[in-house]
Order: sequence, then C-alpha cells, then structure tokens
Amino acid sequence: MKQKILVTGGTGYIGSHTVVELQNAGYEVVIIDNLSNSNADVVDNIEKVSGIRPAFEKVDCLDYEGLEAVFAKYEGIKAIIHFAASKAVGESVEKPLKYYRNNLMSLVNLLELMPKYHVGGIVFSSSCTVYGQPDILPVTEEAPIKKAESPYGNTKQINEEIIRDTVASGAPINAILLRYFNPIGAHPTALLGELPNGVPQNLIPYLTQTAIGIRQQLSVFGDDYDTPDGSCIRDFINVVDLAKAHVVAIDRILEKKQAEQVEVFNIGTGRGLSVLELIHAFEASTGVKLNYKIVGRRAGDIEKVWANPERANNVLGWKATATIEDTLRSAWNWQLKLRERGIQ
Ligand code: WQD
Repeated sequence: MKQKILVTGGTGYIGSHTVVELQNAGYEVVIIDNLSNSNADVVDNIEKVSGIRPAFEKVDCLDYEGLEAVFAKYEGIKAIIHFAASKAVGESVEKPLKYYRNNLMSLVNLLELMPKYHVGGIVFSSSCTVYGQPDILPVTEEAPIKKAESPYGNTKQINEEIIRDTVASGAPINAILLRYFNPIGAHPTALLGELPNGVPQNLIPYLTQTAIGIRQQLSVFGDDYDTPDGSCIRDFINVVDLAKAHVVAIDRILEKKQAEQVEVFNIGTGRGLSVLELIHAFEASTGVKLNYKIVGRRAGDIEKVWANPERANNVLGWKATATIEDTLRSAWNWQLKLRERGIQ
C-alpha cells in the first residue's frame, strides 16, 4: 500500500512541484488548498506531468472542521507537508494580522489534529529569512535567529517555535523544518511554475515578465552594496531540486531515521549569485536581452545570504543538482508557455 501524504498548499508554486516528486517516489498525495493564490487547473497539470491525479480538496487550513473532515475522509495519512501560507513580504507589513492569523492558526490547527488522527510527521516550509543578515557566510543552521524584518518573516520564526514547543510538550510528532533560500525556475515540462498575482515582487517573475514585454523594465535594487559588483547576493535554488528535498525529508521521518524529533536543514545550493550575475546568466542562457536599470535600494533587503547546505547534503542525503542556466531556461520556457495559454 502506498503511504499517504497530505500536502497543504499543494496547488501552489513549490507545493505543485513537490506533489509530482512525491508521486514519482511512490507516495499517494492528498492536496488541500484554498486556491487563494493558485488555480484548480494545477491539479490537471500535475496529472499531466506525473500521470497520476492527486486527490484534491478545496479547504482552508483555518477551517478546523473542514480540515478535520479531510483527515477523517482520507484515513491513514502518514505525514503532512505544510506549504499553505501567505507569502508576500510587502503585504505582510500592511496587513500583519492577516499574516499572523493565516500563517500561525493554520499550523496550530494541523498540530492539534495530527495526534487525533495518528499523523506522526510534518515537514514545514521555513525560510532563510530567519537568519536576517548572517554574520558568517555561508550560513549554517546554527546561526542565530535574527529579529524578523517583516511580519511574514516573523510568522516563519514563530511557526518554527510552535513546532518545537509542541514536540517538547510530548506530542507524538516528528518534524523537519526546511529553510529554503530563493526558489526559482519551473518544471522542465513547462506545465508547472510560479503564477504571481498582479505585479511580481520577486526577482525572477519580474525578470521573465520584463523579458516577454509585460513589464517595461526590470529595476535592480541597488549596486552600492558591499559585494563584488555592488548588487545583492542570493542562493537561487531550483524548484524541482527543492521539491525533491521534501521527498527525502518525508522518507527520513517515515523511516524513523531522525536523530532528533525536530530537525532543521538549509535547502540551498551553497553558491551565492548576485542579482547582476543572475541577469547576465539569464541573457546568456536564453539569448534574450533584458531591459534593466539600476535604481535605489529596496527597503528591508538583506545584502547577501547563501547557504551552507552540508547538513542537508550529508545527513539528509540531498543535494541541489540543476545548473543555473537550465533553471533560468525553465523559468523562461514557463513564461513563454503562459503566453501561449493566454494567461499573461
Ligand atoms: C531577490 C533579490 C532584490 C525584484 C523574499 C523573501 C523570502 C522568500 C523569497 C518567499 C533582492 C532583487 C528583486 C526586482 C531586484 N520568501 N530584486 N528587482 O527578497 O531575497 O526574498 O522572497 O516567499 O522569504 O524575503 O527575494 O526575489 O524579492 O529578491 O533587484 O524587481 O533581487 O533586491 O536583492 P528576497 P526577491
């Protein structure tokens, strides 16, 4: 019998890629999503990629009864991957309570229901944002947690604490916290990818929308940082590589290989790339010229951050493998496909 995994936010950007990788690895997937930032036709595309249609329930994780009905309907769920969350940094500054309600209460509901339905494992989507500007680079999991720059970032920190406190209280729950760096790219089939709502805030969707002519110009926020070319440095991680990290985390929990009940892993490449380097890599790998200009710094930006992924490499047995060129080409192909589908 295939082991059943519940994926919250499974029609979202990272969620949808992860569902496919779970199915490829032989897991049975149940998706719940409130479709607040995604579309039900993602389920069709997941099926096109994997050949398997995942179960899908339109449920909001804030709806305790609705959530409980899913646990009851899909008996025998072994573990959860919890992606569902609001994730726009800027919006979180304007609407902090929306972020605290959505991101904290969803997790609380899940953690309350898990023991009742004998669900013993959870993989949580955390973020390198918990490190703020690290003092030492590349950053390891031991680096101190810095005061969050936004309510969004704060919800990631608090959620990590909620999980730790719940486990410490004796709850029969095993958890893996994955701290993602900057996920980019799309599925190589161009059937799955990121569909930002409105004007993109993140670099890659803005960049590909500029390249295709939806936006006039990409603004590069600052070239006066203390980095070799003056632009910020990030660790850009391919979304399929990232998705695969969730599969090995689920394997690890279910095979009871954890050294501690709560483990944390950096999920990055270990390589820092500047914003300008990324733009040039995009131009070189796609042959598309990008209209960009340097503007002032964006408030709240971290100057430079990249992962030390050794723990994930050695303990989890996971390593990022995609090249930046392939990743950028996949992002571009996705943008072209969206145009073909008349979406943007
Ligand atoms: C990357 C770099 C910008 C847009 C945030 C969250 C993080 C994570 C991902 C997810 C920065 C520069 C960007 C543009 C630019 N969470 N940039 N022009 O800020 O590293 O991380 O998103 O949901 O938690 O904090 O990602 O893609 O916004 O920016 O020059 O139009 O690109 O200044 O240096 P960031 P990003």
